[in-house]
Amino acid sequence: MISAVERKIEQFIRDLDDQMVESLYRRLPHGKRLRAKLILRIAGSGLRAVKTAAVVEMIHAASLLHDDVIDDAYVRRKKPSINALYGNKTAIMLGDILYSKGFFELNDIDKRVSKTISNAVTQLSLGELKDVSLSKRFNTDKSQYLQMIYQKTASLIEASAEAAALLAGKAPEPYRIYGRNLGLAFQMIDDLLDITSDSDTLGKPALHDFVEGKTTLPYIYLHEKLEADERAVLSGLHAKKLSSKEQEWIMQRMEKYQIVMQCYSEAKLLIDEAIELMNEAGEAALSDIAQEMIERDF
Ligand code: IPE
Ligand code: IPE
Ligand code: MG
Ligand code: MG
Ligand code: MG
Repeated sequence: MISAVERKIEQFIRDLDDQMVESLYRRLPHGKRLRAKLILRIAGSGLRAVKTAAVVEMIHAASLLHDDVIDDAYVRRKKPSINALYGNKTAIMLGDILYSKGFFELNDIDKRVSKTISNAVTQLSLGELKDVSLSKRFNTDKSQYLQMIYQKTASLIEASAEAAALLAGKAPEPYRIYGRNLGLAFQMIDDLLDITSDSDTLGKPALHDFVEGKTTLPYIYLHEKLEADERAVLSGLHAKKLSSKEQEWIMQRMEKYQIVMQCYSEAKLLIDEAIELMNEAGEAALSDIAQEMIERDF
């Protein structure tokens, strides 16, 4: 039960015995808790599964605190981000506190789980670093994009599924692949929503990735489709604050070349593969979560 995870996170925060951290944590809105739900769905709601889910959500929250500093993002989960409210220093340190408390608690659960999750956090950080370096130029290389999103997003979802399988005494391999596919598709959809949705629905800035220099999959595909003259126009808009006319110019071309459908289909393929794998493993109940990962509007 997800409420047991919420209570466990609150307990971990209380353990720190620090009023400032407690008050900051109270101001942190909850997210969709997708990673926790995934873990409980695979491993059930015994104490070790609940603890693992709590740790993963704390780690995920820490990564978002740092991510909003990295991305100059001032809205998160429909509220002003911690960096917007209290500045970068507080956001970074609160992130470090959540990370390290999470690692501390992992030691008490299971060595294999601890190794799997902590290794994924190294990957996540390497991915965030790669995201920053790729955004310096208009990246047109899809394989670099895929490697980066695998590291920054899919690794933790993959590790969550694998760790949950280990806790449940299930063969980890199919769950690992399932989690990996889910994670890749999840970030592809996140990158699409940045274009197709609005800030109110998303609860975080929309049309922000390209301004930050991020040439996500839709921009890579659009770049491939455009003729040389329009390609130059698109490259010229990279990493700049866009006027509404410039935004419209991009959106019109995204529509003309059906870029959204192209990206969505690619994410859907990964999800279908994940669902098939779980059906084979007799885990039809894991299809819903996979479906939710792509059929979402925030
Ligand atoms: C946001 O993750 C960061 C990405 C990996 C795209 P979520 O969309 O799961 O964030 P919350 O926890 O629900 O806010
Ligand atoms: C995912 O990338 C962030 C992490 C894995 C920490 P984004 O930068 O796209 O995430 P959002 O859109 O800010 O949630
Ligand atoms: Mg971000
Ligand atoms: Mg980011
Ligand atoms: Mg995003």
